[in-house]
Amino acid sequence: MTALILVAAGSGTRLAAGVPKALVEVGGRSLLQHCLDTAAKVSRISEIVVVVPAAHVAEVAASLHGGQADVVAGGQTRDASVREGLAQVRNADVVLVHDAARPFVPAEVYERVIDALVDAQAVVPAVPVVDTIKRVRDGIVVDTPQRDDLVAVQTPQGFRVGALLAAHDGDDPGVTDDAMRVERAGIPVRVVAGSPHGFKITTPFDLAVATAMVEGH
Ligand code: CTP
Ligand code: MG
Repeated sequence: MTALILVAAGSGTRLAAGVPKALVEVGGRSLLQHCLDTAAKVSRISEIVVVVPAAHVAEVAASLHGGQADVVAGGQTRDASVREGLAQVRNADVVLVHDAARPFVPAEVYERVIDALVDAQAVVPAVPVVDTIKRVRDGIVVDTPQRDDLVAVQTPQGFRVGALLAAHDGDDPGVTDDAMRVERAGIPVRVVAGSPHGFKITTPFDLAVATAMVEGH
């Protein structure tokens, strides 16, 4: 049994003022709805929890006909929103956590993550880093890690429910993805292939790329 937690409670400060990013539309559907459309193709997902800003719970719940998903209010940070979603998971032994801000992750990536959880506690999809990454302090380069060791991590990230629950003990502003939680608990995190379509929509430029993709340019 696999649960999907869709985190959609961010405000999206770099995108549309007043509209939470996950509710911004591309090609006539919200980013959240694009994710739900993909999730519907993944037959092993048996329950879905959508985490949205408190002010939008009723509106989003009304837009999802037929109990397609449970809708709950998120928290101040992504990490806190994940905890709110986790609290709603009912019967699953495996949970996927996905950013609604990544609307075009193909169903194959969800399937790959679920497949790998057969013999892993935690799984992340990733793509190679093409840029050279440097650590910079006060405008000066202090370190350049070997690029071969680096990957860019996407979502959905998958976990045995028990492992993720046990790793979520209290808020920590330094946590930027779910795998960090279980890494810190000493649990190995398996890496599978992500997708170039798994990019996160953050800026107006990303939204323009997303629109061009949907319109088939
Ligand atoms: N998210 C969330 N709860 C929060 C913050 C973020 O559920 N308190 C979700 C976002 O809705 C998004 C995902 O986590 O789907 C990744 O976060 P990010 O891209 O940082 O979204 P925002 O925080 O909305 O955007 P920004 O950081 O640009 O303001
Ligand atoms: Mg954010």
